[in-house]
Amino acid sequence: MTHWTTLAQQYDATKDRAITELFDGSDRAADFTARAGDMVFDYSKTNIDSATRDTLLALARDSDVAGRRDAMFSGARINETEDRAVLHTALRNLDGGPVMVDGVDVMPEVLATLARMRNFAHDVRSAGYTDVVNIGIGGSDLGPAMAVQALSPYHDGPRCHFVSNVDGADISDKLRGLDAKTTLVIVASKTFTTIETMTNARTARAWMREHGGDPTRQFAALSTSEDKTADFGIDASRVFGFEDWVGGRYSVWGPIGLSLMIAIGPQAFDAFLRGAQDMDRHFCAAEVHENLPVLLALTGIWHNQICDHATRAVLPYDERLGMLPSYLQQLEMESNGKGVQRSGANSLRHTGPVVWGAAGTNGQHAFYQLIHQGTRVIPCEFLLAANGHEPDLAHHHQLLVANCLAQSQALMKGRSLDAAREIAAAKGFTGAELDRQARHRVFPGNRPSTTLLYPKLDPFTLGQIIALYEHRVFVEGIILDIISFDQWGVELGKELATSLQPVVEGTEDPSNQDPSTAALVSYIHQHRD
Ligand code: F6P
Repeated sequence: MTHWTTLAQQYDATKDRAITELFDGSDRAADFTARAGDMVFDYSKTNIDSATRDTLLALARDSDVAGRRDAMFSGARINETEDRAVLHTALRNLDGGPVMVDGVDVMPEVLATLARMRNFAHDVRSAGYTDVVNIGIGGSDLGPAMAVQALSPYHDGPRCHFVSNVDGADISDKLRGLDAKTTLVIVASKTFTTIETMTNARTARAWMREHGGDPTRQFAALSTSEDKTADFGIDASRVFGFEDWVGGRYSVWGPIGLSLMIAIGPQAFDAFLRGAQDMDRHFCAAEVHENLPVLLALTGIWHNQICDHATRAVLPYDERLGMLPSYLQQLEMESNGKGVQRSGANSLRHTGPVVWGAAGTNGQHAFYQLIHQGTRVIPCEFLLAANGHEPDLAHHHQLLVANCLAQSQALMKGRSLDAAREIAAAKGFTGAELDRQARHRVFPGNRPSTTLLYPKLDPFTLGQIIALYEHRVFVEGIILDIISFDQWGVELGKELATSLQPVVEGTEDPSNQDPSTAALVSYIHQHRD
């Protein structure tokens, strides 16, 4: 019998069991909690029991997670459809020794680029720049934008802005009010061909020229393509290169993180890298049953592939992690939203879940109604710091913590019909109306959640958190036998957008399009100002 079959049977046998029962007579709260340094992952409020956990751990072992992990860290070409190594971990390997790709140690180059970034960041921070505008999209935007927001208490450099959307509204709103003479524009694009980024970069260059700035001095580029950055007119001294073994959604650790480094300073950026390196070491050294990335992945596999809960909510009770759900959407859904296995055969089961969420407590006043009483079960992943950054507002933090803990408790315990009837009776309802009112106040409960706790959202911890999720995605991908590092699913739309451009502009006949698209184009043409 395969582990998948055993897991399915274990699910069938336990799906109606109350999670609360699992705590009876056991030390489950401790037993279903794992640590990496100061970070704690509690998965006790799930329906995973010891037998299920054993099967999940066996699944991880037999999927050769350890062997594939070692292959990734040692520079093997595990991105098979693009024939590339996957070595974002080298970017944070500050004191970890050589990393070989095709027989060459890449660390001297990585450390030299990091040293150039530090010098550049230092110069920008002391040269009177008021603002930095990072122009990029996807991995060239979400990582630095999320991290800059997350670490705002550590900002002591110029203000940072992020332009990503090709919608002119984005760049127009972001540039409004900026002084072109004291603004640095960073064009962040691994390929330096992405249409959104290159369009925004040209618009920013024209804006700077028009408003008295000097793009020949005030533009920098982050890319794997030195030729294309030179063609754009950016001097090599302000170009920070990286290799194709850094995937876009894994690139915040190197040059793509330059805006973050300018915002918080090179020293704090080092702490960010060290946090990630710390998680890398944990991932490589900890036994599977104590290994946070493995346990997060197995919890995800259990909820998505076995229990068939198609989405997972990421709920940071940490306002500054408000962009984490968007960041994880790219990291998880671009990595594991695949339909075929490594061999090219159709996937045997559903792959990556839909990832979504928002910062607490705001989400409580928006979508938690559905999480608590809706007909679908949504596994929730809470993130919470023991400390905030506002000592004068400690009471806010206590409230925040209480709310986070209350939500996972409410999801697990729910509220029975009897308890709901008491509440309705206390409100004065009687007879059939009491029954009706009570039924609206029932919470089914038994809804799974996990909680990730950390002391404080500082640069080191943020590095740990992001690396934790990167490795979680990796482990899920290995278990699902898919390739997590390519993204062919974004190509078709890009190609069609290019061929539709002349149709939209009116220089090509829309009648060659499918009837729906032709009708939509016709509406746009008719209503164009
Ligand atoms: O959306 C596809 C994608 O290739 C992402 O993987 C990547 O992060 C993004 O586009 C931006 O690419 P680039 O950094 O090459 O502009």
